[in-house]
Amino acid sequence: VNTFQIDKYLYSMRYSDETLKDIMSRFRREMENGLERDTNPTATVKMLPTFVRSIPDGSEKGDFIALDLGGSNFRILRVKVTRDKKQPVQMESQVYDTPDDIIHGSGNQLFEHVADCLGDFMEKQKIKDKKLPVGFTFSFPCVQSKLDEAVLLTWTKKFKASGVEGMDVVKLLNKAIKKRGDYEADIMAVVNDTVGTMMTCGFDDQRCEVGIIIGTGTNACYMEELRHIDLVEGDEGRMCINTEWGAFGDDGSLEDIRTEFDREIDRGSLNPGKQLFEKMASGMYMGELVRLILVKMAKEGLLFEGRITPELLTRGKIETKHVSAIEKTKEGLKKCMEILTRLGVEPSDEDCLAVQHVCTIVSFRSANLISATLGAILSRLKENKGVARLRTTVGIDGSLYKMHPQYARRLHKTVRRLIPDSDVRFLLSESGSAKGAAMVTAVAYRLTEQARH
Ligand code: GLC
Repeated sequence: VNTFQIDKYLYSMRYSDETLKDIMSRFRREMENGLERDTNPTATVKMLPTFVRSIPDGSEKGDFIALDLGGSNFRILRVKVTRDKKQPVQMESQVYDTPDDIIHGSGNQLFEHVADCLGDFMEKQKIKDKKLPVGFTFSFPCVQSKLDEAVLLTWTKKFKASGVEGMDVVKLLNKAIKKRGDYEADIMAVVNDTVGTMMTCGFDDQRCEVGIIIGTGTNACYMEELRHIDLVEGDEGRMCINTEWGAFGDDGSLEDIRTEFDREIDRGSLNPGKQLFEKMASGMYMGELVRLILVKMAKEGLLFEGRITPELLTRGKIETKHVSAIEKTKEGLKKCMEILTRLGVEPSDEDCLAVQHVCTIVSFRSANLISATLGAILSRLKENKGVARLRTTVGIDGSLYKMHPQYARRLHKTVRRLIPDSDVRFLLSESGSAKGAAMVTAVAYRLTEQARH
């Protein structure tokens, strides 16, 4: 088949600007539902207050530990923040394994594992005798009533440890640390990875007021006017809201654009019926979406002369990193040939071109979907500020955004088309969200120290 035929075959994954604008206004409505008192309890997009009220102002300093759980790696970092102009932040970090039996086991085991890794890290850093302030990047939806309390609403992505939903993760981690008894830690702040990303970027660009992640999962946070956040007291100033946009569509509001492939992904997932937007757009599911499309096309004789192999039929055999490789401008087709050959389907050159085009449609759809929801946030910011032209910075992190050769460019272009009266700067978070968690901790630490004296 040629690319024109594939365009027709996958027409339901290719959106017009009209559709994107429609998705944008649906998401604006979801945001309002989450913020308003009457609609919040049943809202699909949770719009969680984070108790982060300001971006770093440069006066923070100290020695901190940052834990980063829930992204593609479990990392522990030591972050030293000084007032040194040249190198204000120094970081050392270590990656730890989170085996499947731990993230799918009991919550106690999971937090004991985290406490063990933290003990190992402190030992190596020779700081086991110190009680350092800890910032915890925990990349899941949590209800917070203060910075150092976070009740897990529901697991998402690859995690599903029992007995954690409905519990305060700070308490669970403290309990595990106490059980070991060989070191102390002072967990001062829990932040979502989107918030950490916004803060990391905010350190370099004061205008940063949105943070987004396009990786294993996808989500965004932004600074909202406190007077619009019904669930939090006070009317002055702003607070960061974790939108949890991954759950967009869980009430059926995206049924008209979900395809048979999206439904199949959902059925085979750890959390059927949940995170439906995330399943259409994030990295965890993209390779699998492509695989399901190829299987159907092969069955209909449109690819590989109808050859279907056990490998092609195996879940997870096409990963998002493969989609990224296939879409490289120069070596993409060669990579495509290699990847398909490994699946045993004996691809022709024409097959490779076709599969590359399928990848483009699937990854482009993701960038389009995220442009629409980000567009909704930007249009809200613009309205809040009451300006004719929005000037702002969006901090971004996540493996899909970083690794995919075309993704960033497509996203930027579409957002600028959807929100024409704007100067949006996209800032890649080079050092990850944990630095931001340390910044939040630094601010919290400064405030408690001030209160003590
Ligand atoms: C999932 C989580 C969310 C997180 C995102 C990116 O959507 O629910 O909290 O920010 O993944 O890691």
